[in-house]
Amino acid sequence: MRKKASCMVLSQGAEAIIYSTAEAGRPTVTKHRFRKRYRHPELDAALTATRLKQEVRSILRARRLGVRAPVVTRVDVVRSLLVMQRIDGKTTKEAFLGGELGEERKHEVARELGRMIATLHDGDLIHGDLTTSNVMIEETTGNVILIDFGLSQLSTLVEDKAVDLYVLERSFRSAHPRSTEGLLNQRLRRIHCSVNFNTTRVVSTS
Ligand SMILES: Nc1ncnc2c1ncn2[C@@H]1O[C@H](COP(=O)(O)OP(=O)(O)OP(=O)(O)O)[C@@H](O)[C@H]1O
Ligand SMILES: [Mg+2]
Repeated sequence: MRKKASCMVLSQGAEAIIYSTAEAGRPTVTKHRFRKRYRHPELDAALTATRLKQEVRSILRARRLGVRAPVVTRVDVVRSLLVMQRIDGKTTKEAFLGGELGEERKHEVARELGRMIATLHDGDLIHGDLTTSNVMIEETTGNVILIDFGLSQLSTLVEDKAVDLYVLERSFRSAHPRSTEGLLNQRLRRIHCSVNFNTTRVVSTS
């Protein structure tokens, strides 16, 4: 008899459950977007498939741009499953709230995050849900890694890029009110410079 693989729930959100799994002996997570009964079944199926495909496309595009995001292992659109590399670490929300990062390290993380968002936006990729729960810090390497691209989109509009930054700012302000001013003023301003530069470039080539 085939032994059923065991898996543990890592997180349950409004749209998806994340299981800790393994594929070919490697640690993975499986993101299952479950059915939402409050939605019309056809609309629900269409939205779920769109978000899954968009998430996969955007993870691949981010990685091609040189922005760290999990390696995608397997996609099953019929069963709404996305299997990807499991990041061994914490979200920035957990790490910042847990108080384990010193001020200098927090600034390093913010600086790195700023560079990553600038690269995404220069490649016209909008993350769509830039909250501190969707930015992970890998335990062993200290690398900053972006996850949860389900609401991402391609756009050259500076307004869409600005909304991404606004969401991030709101998330930092609500989760980390004491550290926010310094982090935003000193680090995220660099992203605004990049967005302006990008707009100039887009305008001048169109
Ligand atoms: N690749 C990963 N490695 C490790 N942990 C992960 C990974 N992906 C997700 N997680 C954990 O699961 C949580 C939820 O994942 P995710 O943000 O993708 O789903 P969600 O917010 O519930 O989804 P959605 O917004 O698409 O409904 C993350 O905050 C993180 O703690
Ligand atoms: Mg999320």
